[in-house]
Amino acid sequence: MDKFVIEGGKTLKGEIKVSGSKNATLPILAATLLTDGVCEIRNIPKLRDTLTMCKLLRSLGKTVEIGPHRVIISGSVNNHVADYKLVSTMRGSFCVLGPLLAKLGKAKVSMPGGCVIGVRPIDLHMKGISALGVKSNFEGGYVYAAANRLKGAEMYLGGTFGSSVLATANVMMAASLAHGETVIESAACEPEIEELGNFLSSMGAKINGQGTPRIVINGVRKLNGISYKMGSDRIEAGTFLLLAAAAKSDILVKDAQYNQLLALIDKLQSIGVDVHKEGADIRVKCKKTLRPANIVTHPHPGFPTDLQAQYMALMAITPGVSIITDRVFPDRFMHIAELNRMGAAIRRDAGVAIVEGVKKLYGAPVMASDLRASAALVIAGLVAHGKTEIYRIYHLDRGYEDLDGKLTNIGAKVYREKE
Ligand code: UD1
Repeated sequence: MDKFVIEGGKTLKGEIKVSGSKNATLPILAATLLTDGVCEIRNIPKLRDTLTMCKLLRSLGKTVEIGPHRVIISGSVNNHVADYKLVSTMRGSFCVLGPLLAKLGKAKVSMPGGCVIGVRPIDLHMKGISALGVKSNFEGGYVYAAANRLKGAEMYLGGTFGSSVLATANVMMAASLAHGETVIESAACEPEIEELGNFLSSMGAKINGQGTPRIVINGVRKLNGISYKMGSDRIEAGTFLLLAAAAKSDILVKDAQYNQLLALIDKLQSIGVDVHKEGADIRVKCKKTLRPANIVTHPHPGFPTDLQAQYMALMAITPGVSIITDRVFPDRFMHIAELNRMGAAIRRDAGVAIVEGVKKLYGAPVMASDLRASAALVIAGLVAHGKTEIYRIYHLDRGYEDLDGKLTNIGAKVYREKE
């Protein structure tokens, strides 16, 4: 296993490029199961999660040729079993359920299980597909689901914590080949869902309202193969904006979609960071001491839960007190203990984190617990005094392409070593 070694306190400057969106790529790869035509997908981020999804597609019968930032998927799905070994490593793979049901009328998909950011139930996925006429049961850690032809239906897909991104994706994909009209009320509005809707439309699906809480889909008999270029990753871009603010730098974040990051940008501007659009890029300049500010995460267009940990790293070195609440994953606070190992003063009180900004963080050995928590530790390591060693960076390799290379290009001292 690899670890990152970071020598903190270096001046960061220059340009950093955002890769293709991981969370949009995963359901789009799953959507290729819906067609027997050839799909070419470009600007794919080179990550462990996208590779796992390609392996899963192969296990379901597809031929997948992987090139640099490009995959070509052909052939027909001929196996309805999504194996535990592949689904358990990555929750995103659960979104093969909808396409398998639409294409084969049956699916046996390993239940994804919980993870360190919370319990992560699948009730909304099951509610959505059962509204389409699917009968299912659970046995031996698998979901067994079957239907003759899926039938369009009106459904409400809101849950205790708001809408669900991947449940919306599963239903959209299944409904694209269902008989009749499906209306998803309280659909997830995340840009990844909008992108999936656009992808399905290009394949020939009749779909409207993606990116809004009400999506209407009129099922068609067949979808076509297409060539498609992935948009950039808003969470990677947001991580770079927060990193630039924490390191008091002047950085151009290339290929960052400003309109997808408004909640974060608004917050950064309100605490004193100069963030603005420069063509298709975002410039972040931060020279002065920032003011602390509270955040509450919400589904899009609210402040994203996937940037909560990185924002906490910024608040950890911002003088004053800030309160951080995660309304999407209320237990997503594993990074507190690790940030505190580096000298942060953060305590958890019921559902909130109370951050008292300190003057300095100090390098320390720390443990990455999940993808975004790892990114928070990288930010902390870059601004800390001394050397930080981050263990278990396989989490980072799941979601950040060539992070050490990109950071080195803007002046950071980051090395990858064997643990
Ligand atoms: C996706 C993202 C993840 C992000 C999350 C929220 C991918 C691969 N992952 O995960 O990075 O943090 O959206 O923006 O795209 N819930 C239920 N029942 C369900 C499903 C979810 O109660 O059946 C709850 C969850 O526990 C959570 C909330 O709904 O509290 C949102 O989860 P959801 O949007 O489903 O997250 P994912 O789609 O799994």
